Amino acid sequence: MTAGTDGTAIRSLYRHFYWSVLHPLREDWTLYARTRSYPGGRRLIKTVQPYTMVGLPRLLNALDLAHAVEKEEMRGALVECGVFKGGCVGMMARIASDGAAKRKVWLFDSFEGLPEPTDLDGEKATAYADDHARGELRPIDRCVGLLGDVERLLFETLRVPREVIEIRKGWFQDTLPSARSEMAVSRSCASTATGTSRRRRASRTCTTTSSAAAS
Ligand SMILES: C[S@@+](CC[C@H](N)C(=O)[O-])C[C@H]1O[C@@H](n2cnc3c(N)ncnc32)[C@H](O)[C@@H]1O
Repeated sequence: MTAGTDGTAIRSLYRHFYWSVLHPLREDWTLYARTRSYPGGRRLIKTVQPYTMVGLPRLLNALDLAHAVEKEEMRGALVECGVFKGGCVGMMARIASDGAAKRKVWLFDSFEGLPEPTDLDGEKATAYADDHARGELRPIDRCVGLLGDVERLLFETLRVPREVIEIRKGWFQDTLPSARSEMAVSRSCASTATGTSRRRRASRTCTTTSSAAAS
């Protein structure tokens, strides 16, 4: 075996060791440390993780925000734009339903997956959509979370009361405007292409924002 192939074998062994041992240990420790002050928080995250593509750091951020709006008695709803299988919003809804404010939790999604990207989303997005990239609001069969599965997670597994949840099925462009003024925490894992007079911006992003609610 040459020095080069030796080095490759060692790197590959280390990668395997990192992902199968070190990374899970680090995640377990982070999870333990960050949820210590939330009773049931660790178990809640473990329950929802199989139903979300949101990674642990962002999930913990959403957990913090969902608790913070309760503690600070902020008015307004929790809103997730881009629900997938419901794991992240389910976690937030569970926390909201235990809170005194009994705030609403809005779910916005096509429940048919992502729409076509545009050329502004870049080559990877175009390839991901099997070269359908004209920005049409039609599903490309990617990131699909079915409404029935989301409802099962929310109402059966997490036992969120039905009256807490507002589901808006459809393209954000049609469904979102109605809830804007009621948001306290808005999570967005979404694709939007917007036109302005100076430039056009496209984004496929995952953000969580918290703001004072307007009503
Ligand atoms: C990245 S996934 C969301 C991840 C999710 N928050 C989670 O917990 O895993 C993107 C979701 O947004 C939805 N979506 C993306 N663009 C949309 C649009 N313009 N209108 C409606 N739904 C959209 C897709 O159906 C998909 O469920």
